[in-house]
Amino acid sequence: MEAKFKFAQDLIRQAAVYVRQRMTEDLQIEQKSQFDDLVTNIDKDSQDFMVEAIQKAYPDDNILGEESELYADLKDGHVWVLDPIDGTVNFVAQGRDFAIMIAYYEDGVGQFGLIYDVVCDKLYSGGGEFEVSCNGRTLSPYQSRPLNRQLIGANGRMYASNYLGLADFASKVLGVRVLGSAGISMSRVLEGQLLAYFSAISPWDYAAASIMGQKLGYELLTMTGEPLDYESRQAVMFIPRAEEALIKRDIKKG
Ligand code: IPD
Ligand code: CA
Ligand code: CA
Repeated sequence: MEAKFKFAQDLIRQAAVYVRQRMTEDLQIEQKSQFDDLVTNIDKDSQDFMVEAIQKAYPDDNILGEESELYADLKDGHVWVLDPIDGTVNFVAQGRDFAIMIAYYEDGVGQFGLIYDVVCDKLYSGGGEFEVSCNGRTLSPYQSRPLNRQLIGANGRMYASNYLGLADFASKVLGVRVLGSAGISMSRVLEGQLLAYFSAISPWDYAAASIMGQKLGYELLTMTGEPLDYESRQAVMFIPRAEEALIKRDIKKG
């Protein structure tokens, strides 16, 4: 597993160099499900770049990638989960606050995850048998603090509509941050900078953070408190296990 973890770290850094080099080009932007669900030629090329390298190094492995026809079942053998640019709207509109993400599973068990904040050059990696670190600095497990001394991250629309009581819960914390990238939001949770993250996201959005979070005392559940299906887009919460009862009590009230 050591070799695969090293391969993934090298690959994500190479993908970041590739994206950084091409960011100044005129982007070809397409709309997917709705006007604010975007994909660019660089999302697609970044995914192709990673897929090619994985298929060359590990031809028998499967791939679940956001931007292609490669939709392997995450529970089926050796599976790489790729989000080539997480936060495409930020990428297009701001040229920052986007991430590349890779997760690796064997028979449905997460082995390691990686989140690369490209512009800030911050690589979060680990989980499974590996320590979770950011650019070589080991991250600490969650340490409890009062709710009114912590921030949360959330999807803006879910917060604005008080989905399942999210805004009511948010009134008990210091504030809400809407960052526009599931990966960057969840990396802030892993750092202990955000208490939790609430959003409606898909396996490629949450796989990497979920594997790293397991190691640091975090749980990823649906907002109604059930385990995820690891297939569809679901309303999820990424929360510290130590605060699960407290958070569930409020969120359920919605
Ligand atoms: C999106 C971002 C966004 C979240 C969306 C995701 P994408 O990923 O993570 O923050 O709210 O649900 O789809 O499409 O930019 O990779
Ligand atoms: Ca994403
Ligand atoms: Ca994406």
